[in-house]
Amino acid sequence: MTELQSYITTPIYYINGSPHIGHASTSVLSDVMKRARIMHGIDIFLTTGTDEHGQKNETKAQESGLTIATYQDQNSAAFKDLFDNLGISYDFFARTSDARHKEVVSEVEQQLFDRNLLTRQSYEGLYCTGCEQFKKETDLNDDQTCPDHPNLVATRLTEVNYFLELEPYRTALRDKIRSEPGWITPESYAQYVLSLLEEPLEPLCVSRPKNRVKLGIELPFDRDYVTFVWLDALLNYLTNIGWPDARSAKWWPGAEHVIGKDIVKTHCVYWPCILMAMQVDLPRRISVHGHWVGTGGLKMSKSLGNVIDPQQVIQTYGTSALRYFIARHANVTSDSNVTTDLIEQAYTSELANKLGNLLLRICKFSQNAFSGVPQRTILPEDEKLQSELFTIVTQASADLCELPSIRTGTQGLMTAIERLNDHITNRAPWKLVKNGHVESAQSASYVLLDCLRLVLEAFYPVMPLIAQAGLKALTNAEANLDRHHCFAINALQPGTSFGDLKVLFPRLDT
Ligand code: MSP
Repeated sequence: MTELQSYITTPIYYINGSPHIGHASTSVLSDVMKRARIMHGIDIFLTTGTDEHGQKNETKAQESGLTIATYQDQNSAAFKDLFDNLGISYDFFARTSDARHKEVVSEVEQQLFDRNLLTRQSYEGLYCTGCEQFKKETDLNDDQTCPDHPNLVATRLTEVNYFLELEPYRTALRDKIRSEPGWITPESYAQYVLSLLEEPLEPLCVSRPKNRVKLGIELPFDRDYVTFVWLDALLNYLTNIGWPDARSAKWWPGAEHVIGKDIVKTHCVYWPCILMAMQVDLPRRISVHGHWVGTGGLKMSKSLGNVIDPQQVIQTYGTSALRYFIARHANVTSDSNVTTDLIEQAYTSELANKLGNLLLRICKFSQNAFSGVPQRTILPEDEKLQSELFTIVTQASADLCELPSIRTGTQGLMTAIERLNDHITNRAPWKLVKNGHVESAQSASYVLLDCLRLVLEAFYPVMPLIAQAGLKALTNAEANLDRHHCFAINALQPGTSFGDLKVLFPRLDT
Protein backbone atom coordinates (compact mmCIF):
# COMPACT_ATOMS: atom_id res chain seq x y z
CA MET A 1 0.00 0.00 0.00
CA THR A 2 1.82 3.12 -1.14
CA GLU A 3 -0.82 5.73 -0.33
CA LEU A 4 -0.13 7.85 2.71
CA GLN A 5 -3.59 7.68 4.25
CA SER A 6 -5.22 4.52 5.42
CA TYR A 7 -8.55 3.83 7.12
CA ILE A 8 -8.73 0.32 8.56
CA THR A 9 -12.05 -1.09 9.75
CA THR A 10 -12.79 -4.26 11.68
CA PRO A 11 -16.26 -5.76 11.44
CA ILE A 12 -18.54 -4.54 14.18
CA TYR A 13 -19.34 -7.43 16.46
CA TYR A 14 -22.72 -8.77 17.49
CA ILE A 15 -23.31 -8.29 21.20
CA ASN A 16 -25.44 -11.40 21.71
CA GLY A 17 -22.73 -13.05 23.81
CA SER A 18 -19.32 -12.50 25.31
CA PRO A 19 -16.46 -11.68 22.96
CA HIS A 20 -14.32 -14.69 22.03
CA ILE A 21 -10.95 -15.17 20.46
CA GLY A 22 -12.32 -14.84 16.92
CA HIS A 23 -13.45 -11.30 17.68
CA ALA A 24 -10.19 -10.52 19.46
CA SER A 25 -8.31 -11.80 16.44
CA THR A 26 -9.71 -9.51 13.73
CA SER A 27 -9.18 -6.49 15.95
CA VAL A 28 -5.63 -7.54 16.90
CA LEU A 29 -4.65 -8.14 13.27
CA SER A 30 -6.07 -4.74 12.31
CA ASP A 31 -4.19 -3.09 15.15
CA VAL A 32 -0.94 -4.77 14.07
CA MET A 33 -1.46 -3.34 10.58
CA LYS A 34 -2.22 0.10 11.99
CA ARG A 35 0.86 0.25 14.20
CA ALA A 36 3.12 -1.15 11.47
CA ARG A 37 1.82 1.34 8.91
CA ILE A 38 2.38 4.26 11.30
CA MET A 39 6.01 3.15 11.57
CA HIS A 40 6.11 3.30 7.76
CA GLY A 41 4.94 6.90 7.75
CA ILE A 42 1.28 6.30 6.93
CA ASP A 43 -1.43 8.47 8.50
CA ILE A 44 -4.08 6.14 9.79
CA PHE A 45 -7.56 5.82 11.31
CA LEU A 46 -8.73 2.53 12.84
CA THR A 47 -12.27 1.69 13.84
CA THR A 48 -13.88 -1.24 15.58
CA GLY A 49 -17.15 -1.50 17.47
CA THR A 50 -20.41 -3.29 18.09
CA ASP A 51 -23.40 -4.26 15.96
CA GLU A 52 -26.34 -3.79 18.31
CA HIS A 53 -29.49 -4.34 16.27
CA GLY A 54 -31.27 -7.31 14.68
CA GLN A 55 -33.07 -10.42 15.75
CA LYS A 56 -30.16 -12.21 17.43
CA ASN A 57 -29.41 -9.30 19.74
CA GLU A 58 -33.11 -8.73 20.36
CA THR A 59 -33.69 -12.33 21.44
CA LYS A 60 -30.71 -12.31 23.81
CA ALA A 61 -31.67 -8.92 25.21
CA GLN A 62 -35.17 -10.24 25.96
CA GLU A 63 -33.77 -13.36 27.63
CA SER A 64 -31.49 -11.21 29.82
CA GLY A 65 -34.45 -9.44 31.41
CA LEU A 66 -32.62 -6.13 31.04
CA THR A 67 -33.93 -3.15 29.12
CA ILE A 68 -32.64 -3.04 25.55
CA ALA A 69 -30.52 0.04 26.26
CA THR A 70 -28.93 -1.48 29.37
CA TYR A 71 -28.29 -4.73 27.52
CA GLN A 72 -26.65 -2.86 24.66
CA ASP A 73 -24.53 -0.72 26.97
CA GLN A 74 -23.37 -3.66 29.07
CA ASN A 75 -22.54 -5.97 26.21
CA SER A 76 -20.93 -3.33 24.04
CA ALA A 77 -18.78 -2.37 27.05
CA ALA A 78 -17.57 -5.98 27.29
CA PHE A 79 -16.13 -5.71 23.76
CA LYS A 80 -14.67 -2.29 24.42
CA ASP A 81 -13.09 -3.54 27.62
CA LEU A 82 -11.55 -6.49 25.81
CA PHE A 83 -10.16 -4.29 23.05
CA ASP A 84 -8.72 -1.91 25.64
CA ASN A 85 -7.08 -4.82 27.46
CA LEU A 86 -5.71 -6.04 24.15
CA GLY A 87 -4.18 -2.64 23.41
CA ILE A 88 -6.27 -2.08 20.28
CA SER A 89 -5.52 1.55 19.40
CA TYR A 90 -8.88 2.27 17.77
CA ASP A 91 -9.57 5.88 16.86
CA PHE A 92 -13.34 5.43 16.97
CA PHE A 93 -15.51 2.79 18.62
CA ALA A 94 -18.65 2.32 16.52
CA ARG A 95 -22.01 1.53 18.05
CA THR A 96 -25.00 1.16 15.78
CA SER A 97 -27.23 2.37 18.63
CA ASP A 98 -25.51 5.76 18.34
CA ALA A 99 -27.96 8.57 17.45
CA ARG A 100 -25.90 10.07 14.62
CA HIS A 101 -25.36 6.69 13.02
CA LYS A 102 -29.11 5.98 13.11
CA GLU A 103 -29.90 9.36 11.62
CA VAL A 104 -27.51 8.86 8.69
CA VAL A 105 -28.82 5.35 8.01
CA SER A 106 -32.36 6.79 7.82
CA GLU A 107 -31.22 9.51 5.46
CA VAL A 108 -29.56 6.98 3.16
CA GLU A 109 -32.75 4.90 3.09
CA GLN A 110 -34.93 7.89 2.39
CA GLN A 111 -32.69 8.89 -0.50
CA LEU A 112 -32.68 5.39 -1.98
CA PHE A 113 -36.47 5.29 -1.62
CA ASP A 114 -36.89 8.73 -3.22
CA ARG A 115 -34.78 7.54 -6.15
CA ASN A 116 -37.13 4.56 -6.54
CA LEU A 117 -34.37 2.10 -5.71
CA LEU A 118 -36.28 0.40 -2.90
CA THR A 119 -39.30 -1.63 -3.93
CA ARG A 120 -41.96 -3.33 -1.81
CA GLN A 121 -42.47 -7.01 -2.63
CA SER A 122 -43.70 -10.22 -1.10
CA TYR A 123 -40.97 -12.82 -0.73
CA GLU A 124 -40.97 -16.43 0.26
CA GLY A 125 -37.71 -18.06 1.26
CA LEU A 126 -35.62 -19.98 3.78
CA TYR A 127 -34.34 -17.77 6.57
CA CYS A 128 -31.25 -18.42 8.72
CA THR A 129 -31.53 -16.58 12.03
CA GLY A 130 -27.77 -17.06 12.57
CA CYS A 131 -26.98 -15.02 9.45
CA GLU A 132 -30.17 -12.97 9.74
CA GLN A 133 -30.60 -13.52 6.01
CA PHE A 134 -32.72 -15.34 3.47
CA LYS A 135 -30.76 -18.22 1.95
CA LYS A 136 -30.96 -19.98 -1.38
CA GLU A 137 -31.72 -23.69 -1.09
CA THR A 138 -28.33 -24.35 -2.73
CA ASP A 139 -26.53 -22.37 0.03
CA LEU A 140 -27.82 -24.73 2.71
CA ASN A 141 -26.75 -28.20 3.85
CA ASP A 142 -28.99 -31.18 3.02
CA ASP A 143 -30.71 -30.90 6.40
CA GLN A 144 -31.50 -27.22 5.64
CA THR A 145 -28.96 -25.94 8.16
CA CYS A 146 -26.61 -23.20 7.08
CA PRO A 147 -22.89 -24.10 6.69
CA ASP A 148 -21.95 -21.30 9.12
CA HIS A 149 -24.61 -22.27 11.67
CA PRO A 150 -24.88 -26.07 11.57
CA ASN A 151 -27.02 -26.08 14.71
CA LEU A 152 -29.73 -23.83 13.21
CA VAL A 153 -32.32 -25.10 10.73
CA ALA A 154 -33.40 -22.40 8.27
CA THR A 155 -37.13 -21.69 8.49
CA ARG A 156 -39.52 -20.98 5.63
CA LEU A 157 -40.89 -17.44 5.72
CA THR A 158 -43.23 -15.43 3.54
CA GLU A 159 -42.99 -11.71 4.10
CA VAL A 160 -43.66 -8.36 2.47
CA ASN A 161 -40.44 -6.36 2.57
CA TYR A 162 -38.41 -3.66 0.86
CA PHE A 163 -35.79 -4.75 -1.63
CA LEU A 164 -32.79 -3.18 -3.32
CA GLU A 165 -31.96 -4.52 -6.80
CA LEU A 166 -28.34 -5.71 -6.94
CA GLU A 167 -28.34 -7.03 -10.49
CA PRO A 168 -27.75 -3.59 -12.11
CA TYR A 169 -24.33 -3.44 -10.42
CA ARG A 170 -23.14 -6.99 -11.10
CA THR A 171 -21.17 -6.33 -14.28
CA ALA A 172 -19.40 -3.26 -12.87
CA LEU A 173 -18.46 -5.20 -9.74
CA ARG A 174 -17.20 -8.16 -11.74
CA ASP A 175 -15.11 -5.84 -13.93
CA LYS A 176 -13.65 -4.13 -10.89
CA ILE A 177 -12.58 -7.43 -9.32
CA ARG A 178 -11.15 -8.71 -12.59
CA SER A 179 -9.25 -5.55 -13.39
CA GLU A 180 -7.93 -4.87 -9.89
CA PRO A 181 -6.10 -7.89 -8.51
CA GLY A 182 -5.62 -7.40 -4.79
CA TRP A 183 -8.83 -5.40 -4.33
CA ILE A 184 -10.10 -8.46 -2.52
CA THR A 185 -7.19 -10.22 -0.89
CA PRO A 186 -6.10 -13.05 -0.80
CA GLU A 187 -6.93 -13.91 -4.39
CA SER A 188 -8.87 -17.11 -3.53
CA TYR A 189 -11.66 -14.96 -2.04
CA ALA A 190 -11.72 -12.78 -5.17
CA GLN A 191 -12.23 -15.94 -7.19
CA TYR A 192 -15.03 -17.03 -4.86
CA VAL A 193 -16.75 -13.66 -5.25
CA LEU A 194 -16.36 -13.84 -9.04
CA SER A 195 -18.07 -17.23 -8.93
CA LEU A 196 -20.98 -15.64 -7.03
CA LEU A 197 -21.18 -12.98 -9.72
CA GLU A 198 -21.57 -15.48 -12.55
CA GLU A 199 -25.30 -15.79 -11.85
CA PRO A 200 -27.79 -12.92 -11.76
CA LEU A 201 -27.99 -11.40 -8.26
CA GLU A 202 -31.22 -11.63 -6.32
CA PRO A 203 -32.58 -8.37 -4.87
CA LEU A 204 -31.38 -7.66 -1.34
CA CYS A 205 -34.06 -7.54 1.33
CA VAL A 206 -33.29 -4.36 3.29
CA SER A 207 -36.13 -4.40 5.82
CA ARG A 208 -37.64 -6.57 8.52
CA PRO A 209 -41.28 -6.23 9.58
CA LYS A 210 -41.59 -4.97 13.13
CA ASN A 211 -43.95 -7.79 14.01
CA ARG A 212 -40.90 -10.09 13.70
CA VAL A 213 -37.92 -7.85 14.61
CA LYS A 214 -38.22 -4.66 16.61
CA LEU A 215 -34.61 -3.93 17.42
CA GLY A 216 -33.47 -1.85 14.49
CA ILE A 217 -33.62 1.50 12.80
CA GLU A 218 -37.15 2.29 11.69
CA LEU A 219 -37.56 2.84 7.95
CA PRO A 220 -38.26 6.56 7.55
CA PHE A 221 -40.89 5.93 4.87
CA ASP A 222 -42.68 2.97 6.51
CA ARG A 223 -42.98 2.84 10.31
CA ASP A 224 -43.98 -0.85 10.25
CA TYR A 225 -40.46 -1.87 9.33
CA VAL A 226 -36.95 -1.72 10.70
CA THR A 227 -33.74 -1.72 8.66
CA PHE A 228 -32.11 -5.04 7.78
CA VAL A 229 -29.28 -5.37 10.31
CA TRP A 230 -26.58 -5.75 7.64
CA LEU A 231 -27.49 -2.54 5.79
CA ASP A 232 -27.42 -0.73 9.14
CA ALA A 233 -24.12 -2.36 10.17
CA LEU A 234 -22.26 -1.90 6.88
CA LEU A 235 -23.02 1.80 6.93
CA ASN A 236 -20.91 2.11 10.11
CA TYR A 237 -17.89 2.18 7.83
CA LEU A 238 -19.11 5.55 6.55
CA THR A 239 -20.69 7.00 9.68
CA ASN A 240 -17.52 6.28 11.74
CA ILE A 241 -15.59 8.89 9.79
CA GLY A 242 -18.36 11.48 9.83
CA TRP A 243 -19.79 10.74 6.39
CA PRO A 244 -21.56 12.48 4.63
CA ASP A 245 -19.72 15.48 6.11
CA ALA A 246 -16.67 16.73 4.24
CA ARG A 247 -14.32 15.46 6.99
CA SER A 248 -14.91 11.89 5.78
CA ALA A 249 -13.13 12.70 2.50
CA LYS A 250 -9.79 12.42 4.26
CA TRP A 251 -10.29 8.75 5.10
CA TRP A 252 -12.79 7.11 2.77
CA PRO A 253 -10.46 6.82 -0.26
CA GLY A 254 -8.07 4.77 1.89
CA ALA A 255 -10.74 2.48 3.39
CA GLU A 256 -9.71 -1.12 3.94
CA HIS A 257 -12.13 -3.58 5.48
CA VAL A 258 -10.54 -6.39 7.47
CA ILE A 259 -12.99 -9.28 7.80
CA GLY A 260 -13.28 -12.99 8.53
CA LYS A 261 -14.16 -15.29 5.64
CA ASP A 262 -17.71 -15.80 6.97
CA ILE A 263 -18.71 -12.31 5.87
CA VAL A 264 -17.16 -12.16 2.40
CA LYS A 265 -20.49 -12.13 0.57
CA THR A 266 -21.91 -9.25 2.62
CA HIS A 267 -18.72 -7.19 2.20
CA CYS A 268 -17.72 -8.09 -1.33
CA VAL A 269 -21.13 -8.34 -3.01
CA TYR A 270 -23.83 -6.56 -0.98
CA TRP A 271 -21.72 -3.65 0.30
CA PRO A 272 -20.19 -2.65 -3.06
CA CYS A 273 -23.64 -2.85 -4.69
CA ILE A 274 -25.14 -0.73 -1.89
CA LEU A 275 -22.35 1.82 -2.34
CA MET A 276 -22.90 1.90 -6.10
CA ALA A 277 -26.61 2.46 -5.51
CA MET A 278 -25.70 5.29 -3.14
CA GLN A 279 -23.23 6.66 -5.72
CA VAL A 280 -20.38 6.46 -3.24
CA ASP A 281 -16.88 5.25 -4.20
CA LEU A 282 -15.92 1.70 -3.27
CA PRO A 283 -13.39 1.04 -0.49
CA ARG A 284 -9.76 0.69 -1.47
CA ARG A 285 -9.45 -2.90 -0.37
CA ILE A 286 -11.12 -5.81 1.40
CA SER A 287 -8.69 -8.06 3.31
CA VAL A 288 -9.95 -11.44 4.45
CA HIS A 289 -8.66 -13.95 7.00
CA GLY A 290 -9.63 -17.54 7.84
CA HIS A 291 -11.21 -18.74 11.05
CA TRP A 292 -9.93 -20.04 14.32
CA VAL A 293 -11.05 -23.55 14.93
CA GLY A 294 -11.09 -25.16 18.34
CA THR A 295 -10.94 -28.76 19.41
CA GLY A 296 -12.81 -30.89 16.89
CA GLY A 297 -11.93 -28.58 13.99
CA LEU A 298 -15.13 -26.55 14.32
CA LYS A 299 -15.26 -22.79 13.81
CA MET A 300 -15.13 -21.13 17.17
CA SER A 301 -18.46 -19.46 17.67
CA LYS A 302 -20.91 -18.47 20.36
CA SER A 303 -23.70 -20.57 18.91
CA LEU A 304 -21.52 -23.71 18.93
CA GLY A 305 -20.28 -23.06 22.48
CA ASN A 306 -16.62 -23.98 21.75
CA VAL A 307 -15.12 -20.61 22.46
CA ILE A 308 -11.93 -19.53 24.22
CA ASP A 309 -12.39 -16.50 26.47
CA PRO A 310 -9.71 -13.97 25.52
CA GLN A 311 -9.95 -12.18 28.87
CA GLN A 312 -9.06 -15.44 30.59
CA VAL A 313 -6.10 -15.90 28.22
CA ILE A 314 -4.93 -12.35 28.94
CA GLN A 315 -5.14 -13.00 32.66
CA THR A 316 -3.04 -16.15 32.45
CA TYR A 317 -0.55 -15.34 29.71
CA GLY A 318 -0.78 -11.56 29.28
CA THR A 319 -1.83 -9.30 26.42
CA SER A 320 1.38 -9.68 24.47
CA ALA A 321 1.24 -13.46 24.40
CA LEU A 322 -2.27 -13.43 22.98
CA ARG A 323 -1.41 -10.79 20.39
CA TYR A 324 1.72 -12.74 19.47
CA PHE A 325 -0.18 -16.01 19.14
CA ILE A 326 -2.78 -14.43 16.86
CA ALA A 327 -0.23 -12.67 14.65
CA ARG A 328 2.03 -15.73 14.51
CA HIS A 329 -0.66 -18.25 13.63
CA ALA A 330 -3.62 -16.58 11.89
CA ASN A 331 -3.90 -17.98 8.39
CA VAL A 332 -5.68 -16.01 5.74
CA THR A 333 -6.63 -18.69 3.23
CA SER A 334 -7.11 -21.62 5.58
CA ASP A 335 -8.30 -22.02 9.15
CA SER A 336 -5.98 -22.04 12.16
CA ASN A 337 -6.06 -24.08 15.35
CA VAL A 338 -6.31 -22.50 18.72
CA THR A 339 -6.37 -24.15 22.13
CA THR A 340 -5.04 -22.90 25.46
CA ASP A 341 -2.31 -25.56 25.21
CA LEU A 342 -1.09 -24.04 21.95
CA ILE A 343 -1.09 -20.56 23.47
CA GLU A 344 0.83 -21.86 26.47
CA GLN A 345 3.34 -23.55 24.19
CA ALA A 346 3.96 -20.28 22.31
CA TYR A 347 4.33 -18.46 25.63
CA THR A 348 6.83 -20.87 27.11
CA SER A 349 8.84 -22.20 24.22
CA GLU A 350 9.03 -19.07 22.09
CA LEU A 351 8.36 -15.93 24.10
CA ALA A 352 9.81 -16.90 27.48
CA ASN A 353 12.59 -19.32 26.45
CA LYS A 354 13.75 -17.56 23.32
CA LEU A 355 12.95 -13.85 23.57
CA GLY A 356 12.73 -13.27 27.34
CA ASN A 357 15.80 -15.39 28.16
CA LEU A 358 17.90 -13.84 25.43
CA LEU A 359 17.28 -10.35 26.73
CA LEU A 360 18.23 -11.23 30.30
CA ARG A 361 21.19 -13.35 29.25
CA ILE A 362 22.87 -10.77 27.06
CA CYS A 363 22.06 -7.81 29.29
CA LYS A 364 23.25 -9.50 32.47
CA PHE A 365 26.44 -10.62 30.81
CA SER A 366 27.15 -7.16 29.37
CA GLN A 367 26.29 -5.57 32.69
CA ASN A 368 28.84 -7.73 34.52
CA ALA A 369 31.53 -7.64 31.84
CA PHE A 370 31.23 -4.07 30.55
CA SER A 371 28.90 -2.25 33.00
CA GLY A 372 26.34 -1.76 30.23
CA VAL A 373 26.47 -1.49 26.42
CA PRO A 374 30.09 -2.19 25.35
CA GLN A 375 32.30 -0.38 22.84
CA ARG A 376 31.22 -0.45 19.20
CA THR A 377 34.17 -2.17 17.53
CA ILE A 378 32.55 -4.63 15.19
CA LEU A 379 34.38 -7.69 13.90
CA PRO A 380 33.47 -9.34 10.56
CA GLU A 381 31.89 -12.42 12.19
CA ASP A 382 29.39 -10.17 13.95
CA GLU A 383 28.94 -7.74 11.08
CA LYS A 384 27.59 -10.58 8.96
CA LEU A 385 24.87 -11.30 11.50
CA GLN A 386 24.04 -7.62 11.68
CA SER A 387 23.35 -7.31 7.97
CA GLU A 388 21.42 -10.59 7.94
CA LEU A 389 19.25 -9.42 10.83
CA PHE A 390 18.71 -6.01 9.26
CA THR A 391 17.31 -7.70 6.14
CA ILE A 392 15.00 -10.00 8.15
CA VAL A 393 13.75 -7.15 10.33
CA THR A 394 13.02 -4.65 7.55
CA GLN A 395 11.21 -7.33 5.54
CA ALA A 396 9.20 -8.41 8.60
CA SER A 397 8.28 -4.84 9.42
CA ALA A 398 6.91 -4.36 5.89
CA ASP A 399 5.09 -7.71 6.13
CA LEU A 400 3.24 -6.56 9.25
CA CYS A 401 1.59 -3.75 7.24
CA GLU A 402 -0.57 -6.15 5.20
CA LEU A 403 -3.03 -8.74 6.49
CA PRO A 404 -1.87 -11.70 4.36
CA SER A 405 1.76 -11.34 5.44
CA ILE A 406 1.36 -10.64 9.18
CA ARG A 407 1.97 -14.30 9.93
CA THR A 408 5.18 -14.45 7.86
CA GLY A 409 6.37 -11.17 9.34
CA THR A 410 5.84 -12.39 12.91
CA GLN A 411 7.54 -15.69 12.12
CA GLY A 412 10.41 -13.73 10.57
CA LEU A 413 10.92 -11.85 13.81
CA MET A 414 10.95 -15.06 15.83
CA THR A 415 13.49 -16.46 13.35
CA ALA A 416 15.59 -13.37 14.02
CA ILE A 417 15.42 -14.12 17.75
CA GLU A 418 16.48 -17.70 17.05
CA ARG A 419 19.44 -16.44 14.99
CA LEU A 420 20.48 -14.27 17.94
CA ASN A 421 20.21 -17.22 20.32
CA ASP A 422 22.40 -19.30 17.99
CA HIS A 423 24.90 -16.48 17.75
CA ILE A 424 25.21 -16.02 21.49
CA THR A 425 25.79 -19.75 21.89
CA ASN A 426 28.32 -19.91 19.06
CA ARG A 427 30.25 -16.80 20.02
CA ALA A 428 29.97 -17.46 23.79
CA PRO A 429 31.20 -13.99 24.80
CA TRP A 430 31.72 -15.11 28.44
CA LYS A 431 34.34 -17.61 27.21
CA LEU A 432 35.98 -14.91 25.08
CA VAL A 433 36.33 -12.67 28.14
CA LYS A 434 37.69 -15.54 30.19
CA ASN A 435 40.27 -16.25 27.51
CA GLY A 436 41.29 -12.61 27.27
CA HIS A 437 39.63 -11.84 23.90
CA VAL A 438 37.90 -8.78 25.25
CA GLU A 439 37.54 -6.97 21.93
CA SER A 440 35.86 -9.98 20.38
CA ALA A 441 33.51 -10.28 23.37
CA GLN A 442 32.64 -6.61 23.07
CA SER A 443 31.92 -6.95 19.36
CA ALA A 444 29.66 -9.99 19.85
CA SER A 445 27.85 -8.42 22.79
CA TYR A 446 27.34 -5.07 21.12
CA VAL A 447 25.92 -6.65 17.99
CA LEU A 448 23.65 -8.98 19.96
CA LEU A 449 22.28 -6.11 22.03
CA ASP A 450 21.88 -3.81 19.05
CA CYS A 451 20.19 -6.50 16.94
CA LEU A 452 17.87 -7.36 19.78
CA ARG A 453 16.92 -3.67 19.94
CA LEU A 454 16.17 -3.79 16.22
CA VAL A 455 13.98 -6.89 16.56
CA LEU A 456 12.11 -5.41 19.53
CA GLU A 457 11.39 -2.25 17.55
CA ALA A 458 10.00 -4.33 14.70
CA PHE A 459 7.97 -6.40 17.18
CA TYR A 460 6.26 -3.25 18.45
CA PRO A 461 3.11 -3.56 16.26
CA VAL A 462 2.61 -7.13 17.46
CA MET A 463 3.54 -6.72 21.14
CA PRO A 464 3.61 -3.02 22.01
CA LEU A 465 3.96 -3.51 25.77
CA ILE A 466 6.69 -6.13 25.62
CA ALA A 467 8.60 -4.25 22.94
CA GLN A 468 8.51 -1.12 25.07
CA ALA A 469 9.56 -2.98 28.22
CA GLY A 470 12.41 -4.71 26.38
CA LEU A 471 13.59 -1.48 24.80
CA LYS A 472 13.45 0.27 28.16
CA ALA A 473 15.68 -2.45 29.60
CA LEU A 474 18.17 -2.14 26.72
CA THR A 475 18.30 1.62 26.38
CA ASN A 476 17.14 2.86 29.77
CA ALA A 477 14.78 5.25 27.92
CA GLU A 478 11.14 5.26 26.82
CA ALA A 479 10.69 4.26 23.18
CA ASN A 480 8.14 6.15 21.09
CA LEU A 481 7.27 3.97 18.14
CA ASP A 482 3.88 5.50 17.36
CA ARG A 483 5.43 7.49 14.55
CA HIS A 484 7.44 7.12 11.35
CA HIS A 485 10.44 4.97 12.19
CA CYS A 486 13.68 4.31 10.32
CA PHE A 487 15.30 1.03 11.21
CA ALA A 488 19.05 1.43 11.60
CA ILE A 489 21.86 -0.72 12.89
CA ASN A 490 24.42 0.52 15.41
CA ALA A 491 21.93 2.90 17.04
CA LEU A 492 22.53 1.61 20.56
CA GLN A 493 24.84 4.02 22.40
CA PRO A 494 27.99 2.43 23.83
CA GLY A 495 28.28 3.13 27.53
CA THR A 496 24.51 3.11 28.11
CA SER A 497 23.61 1.42 31.38
CA PHE A 498 20.63 -0.88 31.27
CA GLY A 499 17.20 -0.15 32.71
CA ASP A 500 15.29 -2.44 35.00
CA LEU A 501 16.14 -6.02 33.92
CA LYS A 502 12.89 -7.69 34.89
CA VAL A 503 11.62 -10.96 33.47
CA LEU A 504 9.46 -10.21 30.41
CA PHE A 505 7.56 -13.50 30.46
CA PRO A 506 7.36 -14.82 34.04
CA ARG A 507 7.19 -18.54 34.74
CA LEU A 508 3.58 -19.68 34.76
CA ASP A 509 2.02 -20.88 38.00
CA THR A 510 1.21 -24.55 37.61
N1 MSP B 1 -22.04 -8.08 12.99
C1 MSP B 1 -21.54 -8.79 11.87
C2 MSP B 1 -20.52 -7.98 11.13
C3 MSP B 1 -21.00 -6.65 10.61
S1 MSP B 1 -19.71 -5.72 9.89
C4 MSP B 1 -20.46 -4.51 9.08
C5 MSP B 1 -20.89 -10.07 12.36
N2 MSP B 1 -20.51 -10.10 13.64
S2 MSP B 1 -19.81 -11.36 14.38
O1 MSP B 1 -19.72 -10.97 15.76
O2 MSP B 1 -20.54 -12.54 14.11
O3 MSP B 1 -18.40 -11.58 13.81
C6 MSP B 1 -17.67 -10.71 13.05
C7 MSP B 1 -16.26 -11.13 12.82
O4 MSP B 1 -15.64 -11.73 13.95
C8 MSP B 1 -15.99 -12.15 11.72
O5 MSP B 1 -16.06 -11.74 10.43
C9 MSP B 1 -14.53 -12.41 12.03
O6 MSP B 1 -13.77 -11.32 11.59
C10 MSP B 1 -14.56 -12.50 13.53
N3 MSP B 1 -14.77 -13.89 13.94
C11 MSP B 1 -15.86 -14.44 14.55
N4 MSP B 1 -15.61 -15.76 14.76
C12 MSP B 1 -14.38 -16.07 14.29
C13 MSP B 1 -13.56 -17.20 14.32
N5 MSP B 1 -13.93 -18.34 14.83
N6 MSP B 1 -12.31 -17.08 13.80
C14 MSP B 1 -11.83 -15.90 13.31
N7 MSP B 1 -12.58 -14.82 13.27
C15 MSP B 1 -13.88 -14.91 13.65
O7 MSP B 1 -20.71 -10.98 11.57
